[in-house]
Amino acid sequence: MKKYRFEYFASCPVGIEELLNQEILDLGAKSAKITRGGVYFEAFHEIALKAILYSRLASRVFKFLYTFEVNHEKDYYLEATDIKWKSLMDVNQTFRLTTIFGDLPREREEFRNSQFANLKLKDAIVDWFRHHEGIRPSVAKEFPDVSFLARIDRGQEKPYQVTILYDLCGDPLNQRGYRMAKTEAPLKENLAAAMLKTVGWNPSEENLLDAMCGSGTISIEAALIAANIPPSYLKVERYLKNTNFKLWTFQNYPWLTKDELLQENFKTLLKEIMEQAEKGIAFLRSKKGLIVANDISEMSLISARENIKKAKLEGVIEVTHKDALETFPQGKKTLFIANPPYGERLEYGEEEKLKALYKGLGDHWKHHFKGHRAALFTGNLEMLKVVGLKSAKRHILHNGDIECRLAEYSLY
Ligand SMILES: C[S@@+](CC[C@H](N)C(=O)[O-])C[C@H]1O[C@@H](n2cnc3c(N)ncnc32)[C@H](O)[C@@H]1O
Repeated sequence: MKKYRFEYFASCPVGIEELLNQEILDLGAKSAKITRGGVYFEAFHEIALKAILYSRLASRVFKFLYTFEVNHEKDYYLEATDIKWKSLMDVNQTFRLTTIFGDLPREREEFRNSQFANLKLKDAIVDWFRHHEGIRPSVAKEFPDVSFLARIDRGQEKPYQVTILYDLCGDPLNQRGYRMAKTEAPLKENLAAAMLKTVGWNPSEENLLDAMCGSGTISIEAALIAANIPPSYLKVERYLKNTNFKLWTFQNYPWLTKDELLQENFKTLLKEIMEQAEKGIAFLRSKKGLIVANDISEMSLISARENIKKAKLEGVIEVTHKDALETFPQGKKTLFIANPPYGERLEYGEEEKLKALYKGLGDHWKHHFKGHRAALFTGNLEMLKVVGLKSAKRHILHNGDIECRLAEYSLY
């Protein structure tokens, strides 16, 4: 059994890996390597902690613990009982285990499926404790003290390589804590942040019009970016109100509990984050008109307002109730950004309506947004053609399982 080369892995939606890689390096990682759906990185523990608290793009951050190779599913249990699990968790702590298959060739079918592999590893952990400590730890699907990820890939010397990681986060990092109501197809918060970074929105030069804002995700992420507010600020505030309730799983790991310096760093970062958030919100109050969130649906706007309030950005993001085709540039240069409906389950006659909406956007920009920019995010590639304008750039970003396009338009 050997230690893994990179110590950490940050996961993200497919398509934003390059941006995440840069973000992790900017936070101070020593080196980083891109893979589909994430970035491996090497960093001091303090930098990994910063990635958890400051990354706008990561979904989760993991720490590599062990890797080993096996010939067959049957060896898996035995190899896994070789790990000294006591060094990773306490028997009184609850744990959660997730297994994913990475890069596995199809013809190798000795591993039945990820659920079965998950069960084998869970048995190995439980049996290890029963054997060494006389009692067994409990599994908790929600709010576990310790969360492990096992990844099974193609091996080098043997057919399978198993990698065990700590999920340092618990809840995904994109769940910032401002999303109150459930709405139709909200974007993941880190995907919305990535869209703004991808099109290079520069708040000191451009106002933002989130013209079909739904629950307001793009607008809220834009405000956080514009004011350099760390995305964890709401979680940090919640934690500081009740430090007995641990909001991140890393707080339960020897990774933090046995490292006094890291604990000091953690306290300092929490303080810094609250100060940065306060300063950022005050700065945004002086920037009225910078971000407008608009939607045609009053229902969507109710949830957008709730989320904006929860994010402490009331009065900072202007909310308007209009058809996007009746919105216009706001004084200075404007970036019109829109995440229109994709129309996955269209009923009779609705396709024509959707076409009219996408074509209407192209026509509206041609007539009213000369000298400005537009960006359209959609999973419906046919509709993108209907816009009728040549995009300056197109980026492939995945929204869950849907391969989407983010099209940028320079309007002359
Ligand atoms: C896919 S949702 C946007 C989700 C949003 N990005 C979020 O994170 O919650 C599409 C939104 O477009 C709005 N919409 C549809 N047609 C519109 C129009 N003509 N003008 C303005 N908004 C429109 C819908 O009401 C809906 O809220």
